Parts: sequence; C-alpha cells; structure tokens
Amino acid sequence: MNQPLTFLGIESSCDDTAAAVVRVEAGRGLILSSEVEGQVALHAAFGGVVPEIAARAHAEKLDHVTERALASAGVSLQELDGIAVTSGPGLIGGVLSGVMLAKGLAAATGLPLIGVNHLAGHALTPRLTDGLAFPYLMLLVSGGHCQFLVVAGPEEFHRLGGTIDDAPGEAFDKTAKLLGLGQPGGPLVEAEAKLGDASRFRFPRPLLDRPGCDMSFSGLKTALLRARDDLVTRQGGLYRQDRADLCAGFQLAVADVLAEKTRRALAVYLAMAPEPPAFAVAGGVAANGLVRRVLERLCALEGVRFAAPPLRLCTDNAAMIAWAGIERFRLGGRAGTDLTARPRWPLDGAAPAMIGSGKKGAKA
Ligand code: KG4
Ligand code: ZN
Repeated sequence: MNQPLTFLGIESSCDDTAAAVVRVEAGRGLILSSEVEGQVALHAAFGGVVPEIAARAHAEKLDHVTERALASAGVSLQELDGIAVTSGPGLIGGVLSGVMLAKGLAAATGLPLIGVNHLAGHALTPRLTDGLAFPYLMLLVSGGHCQFLVVAGPEEFHRLGGTIDDAPGEAFDKTAKLLGLGQPGGPLVEAEAKLGDASRFRFPRPLLDRPGCDMSFSGLKTALLRARDDLVTRQGGLYRQDRADLCAGFQLAVADVLAEKTRRALAVYLAMAPEPPAFAVAGGVAANGLVRRVLERLCALEGVRFAAPPLRLCTDNAAMIAWAGIERFRLGGRAGTDLTARPRWPLDGAAPAMIGSGKKGAKA
C-alpha cells in the first residue's frame, strides 16, 4: 500500500493547460514538476473564456506542456506508475483534449489511467501540501467558487453550504470595476482597503440572520454601487479617501460573513469529533490578508489546525490532479478507454442543487 508512486497529472478544464509529475514516498507527496501555461491573452478581447478558443489552445499546447513536465521532473514515461487526468467538471472541449492525450499515453504505455474530478483536486490539495488527515473542513473561496466541504475521504465530500449567488472573488472583481481599479480586483481592493477606514460605510452582511452555512454576496456589490453613486451625486465625484474607505468597508463585510459562516461550519464539523481537527482554506480569495487573519484567529480559538496551501497550488494546476489521481488509484479507481468528459460533476452528489452555484464563469 505504501510503495512509492509516481504519477503524471494533466489539467485542461478551463483556461490553464497544465501537466505535473508528483511522487508519493513514505506517505509524503513531492511535486517533481508543475508546468502551467495560461491563456489570458487569448481571451482578453472577449471579456471571458471562449470555450472553442480554449479547446484549440489546449489541443495545441498539451503535448508540449506534458513533455516539459516530464523533462523538468527528470522522469520518463516508463518510470511512471499512472496517468491522472481531469475528466470534469469544466469546458467540454478542453476536458476532452486532456482526456484524449491521457488515453493515448495510457494506451501506448500500458499505464493505469485515472479520471479525476477537478474540484476533488482542489479539495485534496491540503493533503499534498500540509499532510492533513481525513476528515478536515475546507473552504474553497475563489472567483468562481465559495463552498464549505467536509473532506472525509479521497472520494467522500459533504457540502455544508456555499454561496447562493456570486463568489467573493467575483464580488472583489466587480467592486474594483465599480471603483475604476484594474483586474483582477482582489489584490487592488485589498491595497486600497489598507488606506481606508472600514467603519465609515456599513455594508450589509447578507444571510447572517439565517441559520446554516449558505452565503450571498451579490447584495454587497449593489450596496457598494449605491454608496458610490450617493457620493458622486453629493460631491460630483470620488476622492481618493472615499475609494479607500469603500474598499475597506466592503472587505470587512466579506471577511465578517466568511468568518461567521466558517464558525458555523466548524461547529458542524467539530460535532463529528475529528481527531485532530483541521481546517483548510484555498482559492484566490485566501490570498487576502484580512480574510486569512480572521479565519486563522477563529481556528486558534477553536483549537483547530489551520492550513492554507500556497497560491500557486490553489489556482488551477496539474500537481493537484496527479495527487488526487494517486489517492483514487489507491482506492482501486481505474478508468478504461471509455473514459469521457463530464462537463458537470458535483463533488457531493447528495447535496441539493443550488439556485446560483457561485460559479458564473467557466473556471472551477
Ligand atoms: O482561485 P482563483 O485564482 O481563480 C478562480 O476564480 O478559480 O481566484 C481568483 C479570484 C479573483 O476573483 C481575484 O480577484 C481573487 O481571487 N483574489 C483576491 C485576492 N487575490 C486574488 N481577492 C481578495 N483579496 C486578494 N488579495
Ligand atoms: Zn479550479
């Protein structure tokens, strides 16, 4: 069970073409290489990811990126123990490009092929980076996602709640747009907020009055728009300080909501008596200093270990796919040549479908 395993991972579900080699030895994961080629420039003129352009770019780049990952790991195809590929959820053309490559490599080498759920890749990353034991509580919080998951096994996820409309990263991006800052908005809003007074504008904390772990962030940006327009009507424009105060007020509202809902999710999780208890936060918004601080403080108060994987492993990459592939492989998961792309593939099949999943864009 504990023999060393070396896997190639392939990821192409959105706008990052990625390949990586991960080795597990004595229970510890080691990333031997992780290559990611983004497509931001290709889609820039369209205001979003264009699925057909993404699929073509993946088809063009996948074999080069894979060759690079193997070369920089110093590992040949013959030295691998398996090939893991994202087989959903995502944009079908991109996912298919990766699946076709993986199938071809598996057929040519005779290596086991593993189809991986992209979201499972994100959710299992804290095991690769921090060695967390099951079950742990995870908050995935990015531009496209916001959900609490109890990660109970490589294929066992329980969704405790999530956003019913926008994801927080999306709200940061929209706030930046409304205030004339650049994109992506998160880091720019955070920088402005450092100069601002968070108590000047009191923005709503939606759904805090209701029980449970669901969240809503779309009302927050409407409130910000109203506050901005009020200032413009009264003063004829915005002063630098107004912008900083708006950013600080907005950021504090997001952090308050995330903290309170995390407190509730922790209560549900701790009732399962996990030993030792652990919480991980991942996704672009986890880079926010205030969000990180409030979550870290909360975990310290509750006696829960806090983990936050490095950002390059929170954003889309193939190391997480190789790792999730190894975990699935150990449970006996194997795919045949009939492996196909699943554009929709929720992690927790038992959780009710959300009205808005907090996933407006293509990125998962
Ligand atoms: O996980 P990610 O790279 O991509 C996906 O959305 O899947 O997350 C990107 C999101 C963007 O919306 C960006 O504005 C937000 O994460 N973000 C931040 C910060 N850095 C990135 N939000 C708040 N504060 C930050 N420092
Ligand atoms: Zn992703």
